[in-house]
Amino acid sequence: MKKIIILLGILGLSTAAEQHQLKFNANGKFKMVQFTDIHFGEDEPDDFDNQRLIKDILDQEKPDLAIITGDVISGYMWDKKTPGWAAEQYKNLTNVLIEKQVYWATTAGNHDTEGDLNRTQISELDRSFSYSLTQPNAANISHAFNYFLPVFDESGTDIKFRLWFLDTGHEDCLEVKGWDCIRPDQVEWFRQAHSNITDESKGKGFLFVHIPFSEYMEMINNWDYYGYKGEEVCCGSVNTGIWGALKEQPTIEWVSAGHDHDNDYYGLYQNINLAFGRKTGFGGYGPDHFPRGARVFEVTKEPYGIETWVREDGGNVHREVQPSKRKLYEYPQTQCGGMTTKGNSKHEWVEKVTGKKSASQ
Ligand SMILES: *[C@@H]1O[C@H](CO)[C@@H](O)[C@H](O)[C@H]1NC(C)=O
Ligand SMILES: *[C@@H]1O[C@H](CO)[C@@H](O)[C@H](O)[C@H]1NC(C)=O
Ligand SMILES: *[C@@H]1O[C@H](CO)[C@@H](O)[C@H](O)[C@H]1NC(C)=O
Ligand SMILES: *[C@@H]1O[C@H](CO)[C@@H](O)[C@H](O)[C@H]1NC(C)=O
Repeated sequence: MKKIIILLGILGLSTAAEQHQLKFNANGKFKMVQFTDIHFGEDEPDDFDNQRLIKDILDQEKPDLAIITGDVISGYMWDKKTPGWAAEQYKNLTNVLIEKQVYWATTAGNHDTEGDLNRTQISELDRSFSYSLTQPNAANISHAFNYFLPVFDESGTDIKFRLWFLDTGHEDCLEVKGWDCIRPDQVEWFRQAHSNITDESKGKGFLFVHIPFSEYMEMINNWDYYGYKGEEVCCGSVNTGIWGALKEQPTIEWVSAGHDHDNDYYGLYQNINLAFGRKTGFGGYGPDHFPRGARVFEVTKEPYGIETWVREDGGNVHREVQPSKRKLYEYPQTQCGGMTTKGNSKHEWVEKVTGKKSASQ
């Protein structure tokens, strides 16, 4: 079977995705544009604006790959009866990427599954298009969009770095109310997949997720950051140890998340850069403090380096130069934002454990 695929590849008969190898372009660069929180399906004018903006950015940046970090659709807009709704909305994105002949790789968000497709079905739909480089779940582990893609040198011989995708799910992590997370089985897969890497590319590359993890909070509480903080960090409700797995062996250089529409910053935390993508979509809340757009990452092969900027609606290229720090009069954020007050009080836990109603507080 393998031989047949290789042969078809040589003859140029395999599908685009089978054939397509990510590699540095002729200029020794590799450029990615991160579209996040697009929220198709809220209303038609917004959907048209979403498509217009994505097309503009693709024309302006001409990336080697589009990264999709979730909430492509506003699943909660489904009327709970129309069949095929989610797929139709999803195609509003894929149609544009196909028209512009841009390859993409996806990890899903929390709202994508609130329509009539579950995570596995969205993964299958995404992968049915020949420009999709999204991979099936790498192992029998939580959620559906867990995998990595190697990026090669110009000749396609050596892997230079990797793009990792971990799927942060929907709501609640390990029965704790709040946002979902990278589950322990995903952390373990990530750890093992990394320990299998022995070549010089080890430690180089990116991790893309939808929901940020709690170290994003530590970073913004304590360190300089670049960009705009417009809301609290809505991280997963349990710290499941992804940070330990990121730090115990050389793994990656940058993490980029979505989810928080009004956060658009990055900063170095314990020698790994933590970033938010710029909210792309016209659906959903925000952004209130900056224009819509897309974060761009450009990797240069020689000398090796990574640059990031944001391409904004209207064409402006926004680069951060001045660091910011939390003002001393602002309280540090001590727990992940969003849904933390619901279902986590002591009496609710007592009820869960004992099965008896306790006096409410
Ligand atoms: C998005 O998809 C819906 C459903 O197919 C369609 O009615 C709508 O026109 C699409 N929007 C755009 C901008 O293509
Ligand atoms: C997703 O939906 C399909 C079709 O209904 C079903 O077979 C599958 O078990 C579901 N997967 C999950 C993870 O719920
Ligand atoms: C996948 O994992 C689940 C939960 O751990 C387990 O119940 C199931 O048997 C596993 N499936 C396969 C094919 O290994
Ligand atoms: C690591 O490599 C071993 C041996 O090739 C393989 O069996 C295993 O599936 C790999 N693990 C991961 C997570 O890639």
